[in-house]
Amino acid sequence: MTPPILKLSGIHTHYGQSHILHGVDLAIEPGACMALLGRNGMGKTTTIRTLFGLTPPSAGCVEIDGVDMTGCPPHHMAQAGLGLAPEGRGIFRDLSVRENLAIAAPITRRDSAPHPWSIDSILDLFPRLRDRLSNMGDQLSGGEQQMLAIGRALCTNPRLLILDEATEGLAPLVRSEIWQVIRTVRKHGIAVLVVDKDLATLLTLADTCVILEKGRIAYTGTSAALSGSPEIHHKLLGV
Ligand SMILES: Nc1ncnc2c1ncn2[C@@H]1O[C@H](COP(=O)(O)OP(=O)(O)O)[C@@H](O)[C@H]1O
Ligand SMILES: [Mg+2]
Repeated sequence: MTPPILKLSGIHTHYGQSHILHGVDLAIEPGACMALLGRNGMGKTTTIRTLFGLTPPSAGCVEIDGVDMTGCPPHHMAQAGLGLAPEGRGIFRDLSVRENLAIAAPITRRDSAPHPWSIDSILDLFPRLRDRLSNMGDQLSGGEQQMLAIGRALCTNPRLLILDEATEGLAPLVRSEIWQVIRTVRKHGIAVLVVDKDLATLLTLADTCVILEKGRIAYTGTSAALSGSPEIHHKLLGV
């Protein structure tokens, strides 16, 4: 049986003395799409920072393809197949669009799988970025920065793309462009873990929904099951 691409078991994470995650378990199968939900401050970003090696867990296990990667740094997570478009986007402001993309390419995944994501194919996905190739990161709109963050993650040829606040602060038209790109990425067989506040869209996109409450998993179910449970929306998401 193929192991999950990503498996978290019993994850506890601290920032200094603050105990934020209290035993988080989750697993993402190859090609699947999972929405990670929860109100502000419940631990979504901390979960993502932990699984990507930005904030190592104080206890528990992070496995990629069944291999224990707990405590490995982010570039090892990228080489093992994870791609991250982080909250806040993390664009290099004083590098051009081309340089922001080129800088990620050498960290590419360490296996012999075909690599469909050249800078050119990423620019086909985001035609706006093609017009902005020589612009510096700080000259881009929020939407262009998010496109660049996704493009940069694709440069490493991920099998799991992780998006933290995928459409936060973006205009409606740009939001729908981002959702469309995520659908295209899924058609390439890439698994997706996505955090966003647009519950309605997430329910149409994701197979599985996980809701965090105060650093614990309070709900796991299919999107269809969560769609049919308005009391859970109300209790755990406040909507
Ligand atoms: N660098 C940090 N130092 C201390 N506490 C933090 C830090 N970052 C986040 N927190 C706290 O951790 C909790 C979870 O935050 P976060 O994972 O960012 O939540 P979410 O992404 O769900 O909004 C919050 O209570 C937040 O205040
Ligand atoms: Mg967050």
